[in-house]
Amino acid sequence: MSEQWAMRRGFILAAIGSAIGLGNVWRFSWLCYKNGGGAFLIPYFIALLLLGLPLLTLELMLGHKFASSPPKMFRKINHSFEFVGWLAVINVLVIGTYYAVVLAWVMDYIGLALLNSFSAGNASSLFTWLVGTPALVIAALLLTWLAVWYTLYRGVSAGIEKACTIAIPVLWVLSILLVVRGITLPGADTGINWYLSPDWSALGRGEVWIDALGQTLFTLSIMAGPMIVYASYLPKKSEIPNSAWIITFANSGFSFFFGFATWGIIGYLMAMHHVNNPADLNVPLNGQGLAFVTIPTAVGSMPGGALTAILFGTLFFLTLWLAGYTSLMSNVEPMYAALRDKFHAPRKKAISAIVLFSLALGVVLAFAPHAIDPVDFIAGTINLIWVVFVEVLIAGYYFGVDKLREFVNPYAEYELGKWYDYLILFVVPVALLAILGYGLMSTAAISPVSFIVLLSMVIAAILISGKPWKGGDEQ
Ligand code: ALA
Repeated sequence: MSEQWAMRRGFILAAIGSAIGLGNVWRFSWLCYKNGGGAFLIPYFIALLLLGLPLLTLELMLGHKFASSPPKMFRKINHSFEFVGWLAVINVLVIGTYYAVVLAWVMDYIGLALLNSFSAGNASSLFTWLVGTPALVIAALLLTWLAVWYTLYRGVSAGIEKACTIAIPVLWVLSILLVVRGITLPGADTGINWYLSPDWSALGRGEVWIDALGQTLFTLSIMAGPMIVYASYLPKKSEIPNSAWIITFANSGFSFFFGFATWGIIGYLMAMHHVNNPADLNVPLNGQGLAFVTIPTAVGSMPGGALTAILFGTLFFLTLWLAGYTSLMSNVEPMYAALRDKFHAPRKKAISAIVLFSLALGVVLAFAPHAIDPVDFIAGTINLIWVVFVEVLIAGYYFGVDKLREFVNPYAEYELGKWYDYLILFVVPVALLAILGYGLMSTAAISPVSFIVLLSMVIAAILISGKPWKGGDEQ
């Protein structure tokens, strides 16, 4: 029998695990601050309802209906579309490759927190030192990949489902502890005010809406890969539309909730430095800098001395690592499913080979950390958007979104009506084109690294889709 989730709960937790990741912890809070505070919640929720939720529902329906990996799924729709599926799974694996390097930094930071390295007040040089010490990064990369390898090696139910059933509740407990600490720190209210007080004029800026739309794709792991494959492991006659709601709102709820920890801590830092504007802190408030410089700086000077610094530093980076670990496994599984479908590759061999391959590429990135940003831009932004755009055209127009709806509606806890077709056929493609256009225009020209990455992915996808299917031409 093909592999399946043991329980619906297991599937939902695994999908939530895929969605909640590094992006929820550092990107969402930063986007709120940058894009009008509490006012950003409006474009964010509109983007979720008009783009994120419909696309997540689409990917879950596709996975459930075709019960295949993305290349086989696209091939079932039309033989010549197989290539799109390969490009998607390669892209998702490339995302996993650099994601794992960032997770390795996170794991090293757990060690640094335990050694009480944040109290010395030199968090910024700590990060520069770590990134410039590949041996430490590689050691943590090995451990991170070992955890993912072991999980995936055990299979869908005994591996992914079991891991996420434990990791996701633990993640919530850890974040509750961090939020309680964050909001009870002196000065926390000032930080939270910056996080949430609405600046309505921001809603007039196009960039704010683009950020909201862009955030919904990465955060929900809408990549034409992880969610399709996870849904392909559902038993026949499974519920889809309501599961998509649950996954979407658990993911956004986590981002919103965790923002209180982050901004409580930033507020504390502001109080320490007697500044009223976070910009005057002279610490990074976005992305990696927020996690690796600002939070450790604040944690190192928390009331309670070394013990508090060790405790909350460890808790913070453990939360981040757990969130990333359950996302990383979902970036590897699509490639396995694709190799299984096309070459009948056995799970254990295929997972071992994929993990070794990504680990080797990760080692290269550990020596060339400046390549991570261009790779992220190509794989995690540009490719992601256009592959999803093509997926929408193929599933929505060529295959027919109405057929997918009819397939899931009999078992749905709420039925998808005709309105859903309009979203997929008109609203979603326009929104995707808007983000793609804006992304290409506003970002510095594509660097040579990103061009090489893009070209290699396209060549690999063409070569592999030209190979014959083992056991004949499966339909
Ligand atoms: N959805 C995952 C994240 O936000 C990939 O990090």
